[in-house]
Amino acid sequence: MENEGQLNEDTEGEKDLASCSPNLLQMLKAAETRWTPQSRDKAEASEAGAGKLVTEALKTDMQIRLTEEKQEFNKRPTKTGRRSLSRSISQSSTDSSGISIYAWRGESEDDFWWCIDKCVCADAWQPNMILDDGGDLTHWIYKKYPSLFKRIKGIVEESVTGVYRLYQLSKAGRLCGPAMNVNDSVTKQKFDNLYCCKESILDGLKRTTDVMFGGKQVVVCGYGEVGKGCCAALKALGAIVYVTEVDPICALQACMDGFRVVKLSEMVQQVDMVITCTGNKNVVGREHLNRMKNGCIVCNMGHSNTEIDLTSLRTAELRWERVRPQVDHVIWPDGKRVILLAEGRLLNLSCSTVPSFVLSITATTQALALIELYNAPDGRYKQDVYLLPKKMDEYVASLHLPAFDAHLTELTDDQAKYLGISKHGPFKPNYYRY
Ligand SMILES: NC(=O)c1ccc[n+]([C@@H]2O[C@H](COP(=O)([O-])OP(=O)(O)OC[C@H]3O[C@@H](n4cnc5c(N)ncnc54)[C@H](O)[C@@H]3O)[C@@H](O)[C@H]2O)c1
Repeated sequence: MENEGQLNEDTEGEKDLASCSPNLLQMLKAAETRWTPQSRDKAEASEAGAGKLVTEALKTDMQIRLTEEKQEFNKRPTKTGRRSLSRSISQSSTDSSGISIYAWRGESEDDFWWCIDKCVCADAWQPNMILDDGGDLTHWIYKKYPSLFKRIKGIVEESVTGVYRLYQLSKAGRLCGPAMNVNDSVTKQKFDNLYCCKESILDGLKRTTDVMFGGKQVVVCGYGEVGKGCCAALKALGAIVYVTEVDPICALQACMDGFRVVKLSEMVQQVDMVITCTGNKNVVGREHLNRMKNGCIVCNMGHSNTEIDLTSLRTAELRWERVRPQVDHVIWPDGKRVILLAEGRLLNLSCSTVPSFVLSITATTQALALIELYNAPDGRYKQDVYLLPKKMDEYVASLHLPAFDAHLTELTDDQAKYLGISKHGPFKPNYYRY
């Protein structure tokens, strides 16, 4: 029946909104105002109310910061630089000119941990929130400075792997504060993982190897969001793409998208490139590397530098030759060369630029998560891992639509009632997969 199962209009939306902190609520309300054509006209005509100022400021500030951050990361600072992945922030660091930065291109492993440590315990301040990407910063604080968790109001984690660690801690009853899983926000996963990698995989490969893609045989390991982006980009340039998967659902998706699903061991001796995108470890092992053909390119777009078993390549019989920055030839005794990019680290973050627009979407999601955790009254969030309310995901997306001059259709009252949702969202239930 037509009306069966209809919910009271606004019920779901109001419930979601009720769980947001007042500041966030103000921003969300402001966003709603911006997105009705009449109020947008009104707002543009006037000097704008507080809501507009808040949303515009957030957007502009985010874009400016991202641009600056990218430039900062690309030049090697003499003393310090911003750590691009893991960073901690304090309330006093809202003025960007006062932020201490600890990172530079080409950090060694020791440098990396030194930078992390400095972020945690630089002179005269202590973090009160953690904004992490990969879980290294959180892990470091757990190991070295557990007492800091008394002050830390929450953790915001962006990566698949970092989030996995947080859920493990939560399951073991060892999570020391509330955490937001930003990775599984739709506006992160469906944009950063997919579109960012779709654009930057080709850029990273071109800049390092100048390889031509047409007709090249490529294996992409993992057909999650990152793998899907990489496969789509490579296919579009005429590469013959094979996929490896452990999950039958993702494997079936790959099949239906026109890719052959294979075991790496079946194809490894004939392909020109192997790209890992699994978030897993030792996906490409020495047994695979031994069988690769001369000139095969190996790189990673997934997690850290664990996906390719590098330890197995650092043995006496193999010679390493650095042919240009981020490009090593690993040479077998018979003269065979495997071309290893970025020493197995994330190719796009190491060797190409990543689209700042996509980063803006993720950074906005992170910022909202931080604001929400910081402002939440005691008791709203326990020592557990949470997802951002759907309403905030939609808000992040709505902030980025003007860049495309996109015009949203508004539900009529009747249509909203028919669908059982609020006219102002959330437009989908939490289980909707996009
Ligand atoms: N390079 C970047 O800019 C970037 C951006 C976002 C995420 N990431 C990282 O990329 C990784 C993947 O992210 P995602 O969103 O695609 O995750 P995902 O979970 O959606 O996809 C990973 C896929 O790999 C598969 N897999 C796991 N082990 C495998 C194995 N041994 N062989 C073959 N397939 C295997 C899983 O079944 C899954 O489908 C994560 O570590 C994430 O942090 C990188």
